Formats: sequence, structure tokens, C-alpha cells
Amino acid sequence: MIPFEVRHYDSIGSTSDEAARLAAADAPHGTVVHADEQTAGRGRLSRRWVSPPGNLYLSIILRPDVPAARYAEIGFVAALAVADAVTALLPRQAKVSLKWPNDVLVNDGKIAGILVEQAAEALVLGIGLDVLQAPNGVSYQVSTLAGCGGLATVDGARDKLLAALSGWLEIWLRDGFAPIRTTWLARAHPVGTPLTVQLGDRFVTGQFAGIEPDGALLLDAPAGRARIVAGDVRMG
Ligand code: BTN
Repeated sequence: MIPFEVRHYDSIGSTSDEAARLAAADAPHGTVVHADEQTAGRGRLSRRWVSPPGNLYLSIILRPDVPAARYAEIGFVAALAVADAVTALLPRQAKVSLKWPNDVLVNDGKIAGILVEQAAEALVLGIGLDVLQAPNGVSYQVSTLAGCGGLATVDGARDKLLAALSGWLEIWLRDGFAPIRTTWLARAHPVGTPLTVQLGDRFVTGQFAGIEPDGALLLDAPAGRARIVAGDVRMG
């Protein structure tokens, strides 16, 4: 188990900004910034991450011994860890699934978001998990652990998540991305699922055709097979 050192804050702008600051000041691998609420939480693609009290907001400083070109793989590692943690906290009938690139869904609503960023020589893994509060004003379907019948406190969810993350990081560091990719594919929308990907102000519709060995999305679109490295995906 990684010896995580948790620094707790009642309220903060963004845990990922604070983790980046600490990383630049040489904070070690496994430093965790955890806040009860964020006033300037950030999501992927420069979006806001609405962060009221009652949910989990944390950012972890990681210093894995892998080339920076492989850092995006961490998002898939984290998605598996979040999926394991929420599965352990939810009733058996809850449906936990994954959506490219790093979303974790419960009963088709997004329950967690993952943001991977580079800071100084380190990597900052930011995770937001909706435990008690459905965030207001978001444009997609949301699930919370409590709303799906889960029994969890924010700290309980954090500890489960860190334990699961430690296990998947060990597999990734030992065996590489292949087992992560295989497990992720087994838990994600099946090949052939209709997807629409937003690329800036353009939308591409097609069928999910898997992910590449580096995690890029493959989409069979009318114009042929597209390889997508960043975008926003919705089913249908
Ligand atoms: C997404 O857009 O799906 C990713 C959201 C990531 C949110 C988390 S909450 C903890 C950390 N601090 C931030 O400001 N963002 C990440």
C-alpha cells in the first residue's frame, strides 16, 4: 500500500491547484490534498467542477517511474479504482460502468470525475466523487453514492478509494497498461455502442470500436475510423 499522507482542508479553491503547489515544493509521492468543499473546482476541458460540501474532493501527487508520455494511462487506472471503491460501497444491484475517457457511472449517471495533470516533475491525480450531494447546474445525468443506496461517509469513501488506487497502481507499475486496458474495456460500454463525441464545437457520431494501446478512443464514424485523444463523449 502506498503510504498516503492526507492533508485535510475545510475549504479550498481547487485541491489540484494546491497539490500542484505542493508538488513544486517537492512534496513526496502519495501526498493527498483532501477538501470538504472547493470554491474553484476544475473539471476536464476547462470546465467547472461544482463542489459543495458532502462529496469527496481530493488530489494525489504521484511520482511514478514511467515516461511522461504514459501519464494519461493513470486516468484509466484511477477509473478502475473508483469503480472498485463505489462497487464495494453500493448494494449489489447497482450498475457500475465506465465511459471514455475516465468517467465512472452508476445506474447510467456520472458519479465521479477524474482529472490528470502534470505539475513540476510530478503528476496530480484529481478525483471528485459524489457521495451525498448531487451538484446543481450540470448538464448530464448525475448519481450519488447515497442516492443509489450506498452506505458511505466522505472519509470512508476516501479510504476505500485510496486502498483501491494503491492496488491498481501496483498492477500498472508492475505489468504495464495492458491489464488496465483489458479490465477497463470489460467494464465500459461494449464495442458497437453508439457514441457522440464533442470535439470543440464539432460533434462526431459513430460506434465505439475500442481503445488503443495508449488509451486513445477508436470510433467508427461515417467518414471512417477516427482516433480521438481528447473529447467529451455521450452515449447515443
Ligand atoms: C471531470 O471533468 O470529469 C473531472 C473532474 C475532476 C474534479 C476533481 S475534484 C478534486 C480535484 N480538484 C479539482 O479542481 N478538480 C479535481
